[in-house]
Amino acid sequence: MGGQVLLFFSLLSLGSVFGQVSYSIPEEMPKGSLVGNMARDFGLDVKRLKSGKARIFTRDSDGYIELNNERGVLLIKDRIDREALCGQTTPCALHFKIILENPMEFLSVTIEITDINDNPPSFEKSDVKFKISESAVSGSKFILDRAVDSDVGSNGLQTYKLEPADHFVVRLHEQADGTKNVEMVLDKPLDREKNEHLSLVLTAVDGGEPQMTGTMQILITVLDANDNAPVFTQPIYKASIEENAAVGTVVVTVTATDSDQGSNGRITYSISSILDHARGLFEVNDASGEIRLKGNVDYEKARTFQINIRASDDGGLVDSCKVMIEVIDVNDNKPDIHILSKSNVISEDAVAGTVVTMINIEDTDSGENGKVHCSINNDIPFVMKSSTSDFYTLVTDSGLDRETASEYNITVTCSDEGVPSLSSSVTLTLQISDVNDNSPVFESSSYEAYIVENNTPGLSVFTVRAQTDSDWKIQLPAFLLPGGLPR
Ligand SMILES: *[C@@H]1O[C@H](CO)[C@@H](O)[C@H](O)[C@H]1NC(C)=O
Repeated sequence: MGGQVLLFFSLLSLGSVFGQVSYSIPEEMPKGSLVGNMARDFGLDVKRLKSGKARIFTRDSDGYIELNNERGVLLIKDRIDREALCGQTTPCALHFKIILENPMEFLSVTIEITDINDNPPSFEKSDVKFKISESAVSGSKFILDRAVDSDVGSNGLQTYKLEPADHFVVRLHEQADGTKNVEMVLDKPLDREKNEHLSLVLTAVDGGEPQMTGTMQILITVLDANDNAPVFTQPIYKASIEENAAVGTVVVTVTATDSDQGSNGRITYSISSILDHARGLFEVNDASGEIRLKGNVDYEKARTFQINIRASDDGGLVDSCKVMIEVIDVNDNKPDIHILSKSNVISEDAVAGTVVTMINIEDTDSGENGKVHCSINNDIPFVMKSSTSDFYTLVTDSGLDRETASEYNITVTCSDEGVPSLSSSVTLTLQISDVNDNSPVFESSSYEAYIVENNTPGLSVFTVRAQTDSDWKIQLPAFLLPGGLPR
């Protein structure tokens, strides 16, 4: 590879030869490579070089180039790194003189070193970390480190790419001093609940052929903002509880979730509103959402309760839900028997169907627990009749007979249909009053007696006896002889 002659001219003055030759070579040429044929370019014979002891004179750049006097050419003596030699300065050139003696001559040589794309853009750090709040607004800017590419011109740094581009874009911001700041600009808002950690790659690209790149990783931790309110798993919770359930019974547990972190996601439950009749009956555990019974519920007093529960996070965002509590009836009330009217005594000749007693039944339980049936002991001549479910009458069934039974103990038993069934009973004592429905009865239907004739009138012949009369407190009647005895 040879250098390119850019410029050639020579001046002759006062017997001395002055001349200048320029070459242009790329950096990084291997040792021994040809830079240029200076003998030819200066119009010198190689013999003159030898006789004149031609040599390179330089003050600063020591030894990149050597002069071969045999061939009259300039060769690469040591690898030239343009970036080491000139940095970002362009053009970059080596300047030296070739000195000849007898007669003395100075030949000026300029070798321009052109850039090759031998340096990729590079970042000082391999990664950079950011903590960005999810509440950061679109357009928020984050300054990134610049990449450096020691090559110049089109081989130098041209542009940046930022990938993936879901949330951020890269922008170059021209500074007053001509440098460019690299900014990462938030394009679409972050959401910690979707993506807490982002990893992006910033690529710096130069314009060489082939292109070279350098990368830096950008690690982003998205910080939580209280951007999520608690949310109940259900808007309405339904629960049921048996009346008389023990204090402390868990009625239902409500649950809300909050996607935020830490205190932004810590939920506290409280009762937000409750109707008067439910006040003091329920409590909610502020941490667990458990709703417990705090007092006694009585189905006969209230059958449903509605409580509104609020869930709030520490940041003050809230949600609320309704809890509907249904009270389940328990068969805890016995039928209550009221005697509305009652006869203590009834005549034995009362006709069948005569009302003896009217009773009213009340059972405050509901459903089966409140359905009541009444009955009486079955060995007596009475029946229970019901007009409505609440009213019963006790009536006589078949004919009464005081002489058979003068008193009845009537037990009315009323039972509900609950399981287990509850019952009540009352016993009524009923006297049967007498009617004169019985004749006196002789012990025997005929009597035979013997009397001696000529007896004294008034002499007792014999005694007839009538059995007691069954009727109540009837005096035995006088005995009458239907006709006189034959005398
Ligand atoms: C009715 O009950 C009373 C009191 O228990 C008792 O003295 C009486 O003998 C009973 N009468 C009948 C007919 O069972």
